[in-house]
Amino acid sequence: MKRLVVLGSTGSIGRQALEVVDALADEIEVVGLGARRDADALVGQALQYRPKAIALVEEQSAALVRSRVPQGTVVFTGREALTRLATQVEADIVLVAVVGIAGLLPTLQALRAGRDVALANKETLVAGGALVTREAARRRKMLLPVDSEHAAIAQCLRGESLESVRRVLLTGSGGPFLRRPIATLDQVGRDEALAHPTWNMGEKITVDSATLMNKGFEVIEAHWLFGLAGEQIDVVIHPQSIVHSLVEFVDGSVKAQLAPPDMRMVIAYALTAPRRLPLPSPVVEWDRLQLTFERPDPARYPCLGLAYDALREGGTMPAVLNASNEVGVERFLAGSIRFTGIARAVEATMDAHRPVSEPSLEEVLAADAWAREQALLALR
Ligand SMILES: NC(=O)c1ccc[n+]([C@@H]2O[C@H](COP(=O)([O-])OP(=O)(O)OC[C@H]3O[C@@H](n4cnc5c(N)ncnc54)[C@H](OP(=O)(O)O)[C@@H]3O)[C@@H](O)[C@H]2O)c1
Repeated sequence: MKRLVVLGSTGSIGRQALEVVDALADEIEVVGLGARRDADALVGQALQYRPKAIALVEEQSAALVRSRVPQGTVVFTGREALTRLATQVEADIVLVAVVGIAGLLPTLQALRAGRDVALANKETLVAGGALVTREAARRRKMLLPVDSEHAAIAQCLRGESLESVRRVLLTGSGGPFLRRPIATLDQVGRDEALAHPTWNMGEKITVDSATLMNKGFEVIEAHWLFGLAGEQIDVVIHPQSIVHSLVEFVDGSVKAQLAPPDMRMVIAYALTAPRRLPLPSPVVEWDRLQLTFERPDPARYPCLGLAYDALREGGTMPAVLNASNEVGVERFLAGSIRFTGIARAVEATMDAHRPVSEPSLEEVLAADAWAREQALLALR
């Protein structure tokens, strides 16, 4: 039995992870569940899965939660709640499925405490890739990608050596604005940006998928996860979201991984790899397949270019990319800036930043805090 802690259990990935647990109940036991503020959902999950501990970041509902969870359940609350859950409950693997920079500290601490980490949260590797991969190597712990693209690359690389890789191609649907006239992108509404054509996800990643910042993040993550240079990582638009990524080898051969767009398969693989266990998943309908691929248009997706720039500059620049994007997306979702303002805020913040090379954790967090203020100034 693998003992699992889920950080962000009330979100899109968290809930799907619990569906995977339902399907693999003989393999995985839930020992910890954590969220930010959705107390009702967290209590419901605690009553169903009976974890040893739960964590709620926002403290307002703490007393209510304590009175409703099964007796003996430890309840952590407050800013340190997720880190305590990730380190103080005996567990084999921690699934980090919170949104934003909030994933960085719990990931580092989980690795330090000797847990393998299944990482859905992208912002962690973008902002702190060097710190996190160094910690995983030092502790000999696994960093398992919970993202269809990186899971695809990991599967294509099994049995292969890094020297035989020429490049990887990360696929992306192109989001809801693939065909929309570029001149009208500044009129995009919140609901339009949240209407992703192929994936059903949390709000932040859905907006990131519409700007293609999400794909830019994946480029940076691929660099850290697989030790590839930026020039070896390409992005290709594939609107059907069936081919989840491709690896091209030095002899010209290409491997790809295909599956219907369903994160439960990806989560299950991260939790059980290298084994594959039967799941009640949809299957690829071969007789209906129409697979198309095209290059992303840099004018349509300026965030993708900014992510490549951040990777090239290195140091604290990717943390600044991430933090200014978090502010931009938040402001867009709140209705205070236009869709195109997100890229503008990120670009202005990056332009104003002098990156620190080989940053410590404190320097990454300082760059993150600086970029948030700077992005707000840029948006005034
Ligand atoms: N959804 C996908 O298909 C998908 C695919 C690949 C990667 N990812 C990545 O996985 C992560 C989670 O995405 P999602 O779509 O599952 O997001 P989501 O549906 O918005 O869920 C986020 C979860 O994290 C918690 N949370 C949010 N902000 C937090 C904070 N500041 N501190 C602590 N907990 C916080 C939420 O708790 P409350 O409910 O209490 O607010 C919720 O449990 C993101 O980094 C995303 O990029 C997602």
